[in-house]
Amino acid sequence: MITYDKNNKIFNLTNNEMSYIFCILKNGKLGNLYYGDAIGENLKIDQMIHFEKTSLTVNYFKNDDKFSMQNIKQEFPEYGRGDYREPAIMLTRENGSHLTDLFYKDHTIYKGKKSLEGLPSTRGEKICETLVVELYDDIIDLTVKLYYTIYKNINAITRHVEVMNGEKESVKINRLLSASIDFFDSDYQWLQFSGDWSRERHLIEKKLSEGITSVGSIKGTSSAEHNPFIILKREKTDEFKGEAYGFSFIYSGNFLAQGEVDSRKTLRMMMGINPFQFNWKLDKKESFVSPEVVLTYSNKGLNNLSHQLHDLYNKDLVQKKWMTQKRPVLINNWEATYFDFDENRILSIAKEAQQVGIDLFVLDDGWFGARNDDTKGLGDWIVNKEKLPNGIQGLSKKINDLGMKFGLWFEPEMVNEASNLFKEHPDYIISDPQRNSSVGRNQLVLDFSRKEVVDEIYRMMENTLKNSTVEYIKWDMNRFISEPFGKDLGLEHKGEFFHRYILGLYSLLEKINENFPHIMIESCASGGNRFDPGLLYYAPQAWTSDNTDAVSRLFIQYGTSYGYPISSIGSHVSEVPNHQVGRLTPLKTRTDVALFGTFGYELDIGKLSNEEKSQIEEDIKFFKGNQELIQKGRFYRLISPFKTNNETAWICVSNNKEEALVGFYRIRNAASNPLKKIILTGLNPEYNYSVNGKEYSGRILMKFGILLTDFYGENKVTGDYYSKLFVVKKI
Ligand code: DGJ
Repeated sequence: MITYDKNNKIFNLTNNEMSYIFCILKNGKLGNLYYGDAIGENLKIDQMIHFEKTSLTVNYFKNDDKFSMQNIKQEFPEYGRGDYREPAIMLTRENGSHLTDLFYKDHTIYKGKKSLEGLPSTRGEKICETLVVELYDDIIDLTVKLYYTIYKNINAITRHVEVMNGEKESVKINRLLSASIDFFDSDYQWLQFSGDWSRERHLIEKKLSEGITSVGSIKGTSSAEHNPFIILKREKTDEFKGEAYGFSFIYSGNFLAQGEVDSRKTLRMMMGINPFQFNWKLDKKESFVSPEVVLTYSNKGLNNLSHQLHDLYNKDLVQKKWMTQKRPVLINNWEATYFDFDENRILSIAKEAQQVGIDLFVLDDGWFGARNDDTKGLGDWIVNKEKLPNGIQGLSKKINDLGMKFGLWFEPEMVNEASNLFKEHPDYIISDPQRNSSVGRNQLVLDFSRKEVVDEIYRMMENTLKNSTVEYIKWDMNRFISEPFGKDLGLEHKGEFFHRYILGLYSLLEKINENFPHIMIESCASGGNRFDPGLLYYAPQAWTSDNTDAVSRLFIQYGTSYGYPISSIGSHVSEVPNHQVGRLTPLKTRTDVALFGTFGYELDIGKLSNEEKSQIEEDIKFFKGNQELIQKGRFYRLISPFKTNNETAWICVSNNKEEALVGFYRIRNAASNPLKKIILTGLNPEYNYSVNGKEYSGRILMKFGILLTDFYGENKVTGDYYSKLFVVKKI
């Protein structure tokens, strides 16, 4: 898959469908030649780079006015040598200079992939090959290694960078993007996934034009405002056809995704740690490893682009165990009780849940310390015996005796001022000691850049976990970082704070995974405020949003599916009126939306009518019967709520194409609706299928579709918030 053409100095990373090609230029730096459909071998640099003289540029060589860094498509752009687009790397040397001159020195190619120490990354379980290109600046004695891994059966390339300082001087890394690509043209639509609390990952599309288009975070988490995932697509590309590129960052902290279009209309696309507030000091002989970026490519539309990421994350990022294991159907008590519960109340919810077939009971916030509301107790990970006299040990056993697994909520990174942890260790929080600390949800953030803080939290968590039968953790994080100041970090290292915080977080997650391998973690951050591939590495599913309203969820889950597999999308059926938006939707619609995710409940089933309870029992049986298909099948988006603002449709197709499940949703009804049909995809045109009992050929389903008018409420007036499932089975 990876070759180096010595004569032409060209690196070629090609699998069956795509090629990524770059070269060593005549000044020894790397030039980007091509990224797109597979184009094979026997390439020449001057076929793919146009060297020309232009008036305003500066020349790299005195005697060659056609060789200017500004006009050349680069692979790892640097600062200060005549390229005025933003660079991938910038350092400060001891003499104050920001200049680097990195030249090709060597490269290695090997089978498989190595993991990144202390950072999440794809695991290299699938067939892949890695190229490491070594660049060297002899004036600084600095080595930079560029890592590329290409997958054989997934159109994905992972990239990261390692900077290794030599023996001459210390340097400060001011800027280090994990991947930078110069595209030949900029005729692309930029797709970002943005929002806010309870409105996460809404698709926003804009046309690139001269200047910089960017999204990022400086909040200490990847954030609900912008996801670390971007798509570039051609104007005519849709879900089913056309060219698209994905950029996904395996990182949970401050990030930057940026596209810069220059005056010649080329595009420099880059992604990595946000350079704002980032400054990493490297003493002599020290090194720094950047987190990993995943590049994906499709020439078959956006569904296909998403499939590359779904496959990569399902099969090579999440922990091996969770790649295949069926996820439990869970019930969470948060919306049923909030902080107001005791053991009896919890057991009564659990009993009802067990009777309808739920596998796992999750006890949410409020089980510890003096935590009877959100003003107290956070950080005291010791059970509140007034609420739970038999402790977590006793409660978890009782839940197990009912025939259910037990799960528990933690918010390990936070503390209330009114807590024993804060009283004992007021210095544990992130703060500037000369200033007030801002609170968010009445809480302060613990300084996870400090090992002793992480160790203390681990000690408390371990105590609870080892003395109980917890098999699931909901790992919450409910505010952004403010007053960022690494109190313990020396003056020269203050700019390392945000990244060190994330490294501390990852070290704790790693330790829990290692020491409690039977526990599955679901990540959460006020819902989907930290839904990113970095956390997926430790936690195979994420609470997608605090918004459990079925209509809002159509947008949130549809948007999330562009970059993340359905198996990671935490989705629950909750009560009505909905707690976030007050909407009344039918139980059926709430269920039909939640089914396309990890599926669970967040209400007190005991409060429902007998008819609703029997319905839920049926729904859970239905989910379990289709779980393999939903968790491991192919998910395609069919009708976008972002386009129609009224209708949504999606489909999961089993890998052998013998079964499929289609969800159709209509928000508002109208009289005399236009005729409607849904065209299915991913089936076998040669097969015959039954769709809710009616017979169709695969060809008809995929060319003509299902007439919705046939099915609309089976000739009843259906009202708003309507949903319909179509069960497709090979005959
Ligand atoms: C925010 C989460 O998103 C909710 O699901 C719940 O766990 C609360 N925190 C508890 O405080």
